[in-house]
Amino acid sequence: MKKYLIAGNWKMNLLQNDAQIFGNNLNNELLNRNLSDSEVLVCAPFTNLFTLKNIQNETLWALGAQNMHFADSGAYTGEVSPLMLKDAGCEYVILGHSERRQYFGEDNELLTKKINSALHHSLKPIFCIGETIEERNNNITFDILHHQLEVLKNVEPHQISNITIAYEPVWAIGTGLTANSKQIAEVHSWINNYLQINFSTSLKILYGGSMNAGNSAEILAIDNVSGGLIGGASLKLDQFLQIVDNAIQLT
Ligand code: 13P
Repeated sequence: MKKYLIAGNWKMNLLQNDAQIFGNNLNNELLNRNLSDSEVLVCAPFTNLFTLKNIQNETLWALGAQNMHFADSGAYTGEVSPLMLKDAGCEYVILGHSERRQYFGEDNELLTKKINSALHHSLKPIFCIGETIEERNNNITFDILHHQLEVLKNVEPHQISNITIAYEPVWAIGTGLTANSKQIAEVHSWINNYLQINFSTSLKILYGGSMNAGNSAEILAIDNVSGGLIGGASLKLDQFLQIVDNAIQLT
């Protein structure tokens, strides 16, 4: 039986008041549902973390961040450390999101430091990988994913099981275009094989990219899809809950 992780990535959205309303309503709504072994996660902007920590029913949903610095503390103006994320109630942290790779130049070297630091501090990384449309059209999707996954070879073997992978084709993020079921099945199966061959293990592999209330049931039912990393549709509680309900129905 699948155990799903339904994760919202709010990106740079929602002010404190909206976050508070969302968090309180999420508590109430999830109380009426039987999540069994599935998990719900909200990855909020740094400024909302303490607010959410203070209202969160931890038995119902987890809190995560969208990025972090690898150092514990120091002269890194504008950055937030893993210790600060722990302090603010985070259990998870998204690392290597394509927007971080694209706009902030995050590469394998930096992401190796970030992943190892997160694991050292018992934060669970959601490690994002995915190809651009040019890369897909040039038939180098699997070369790109292979290169991005090389980061995991620098993680201590006993820590690998604490990592979640998110496959987010860059061309499907925020565009309304989702990868079709065949494309998702192909890539998720390839990632699963890669993990088996290199680490003799399976990890949760989330799909992300224009997942919404309407398409989530079909996507979540695909083999080797163990959840979703949801951007736009995670900002509206009713849509987010519909995705959660679709996951519940599949378990
Ligand atoms: P959208 O769901 O808005 O396409 O965003 C996906 C994403 O980037 C989640 O991390």
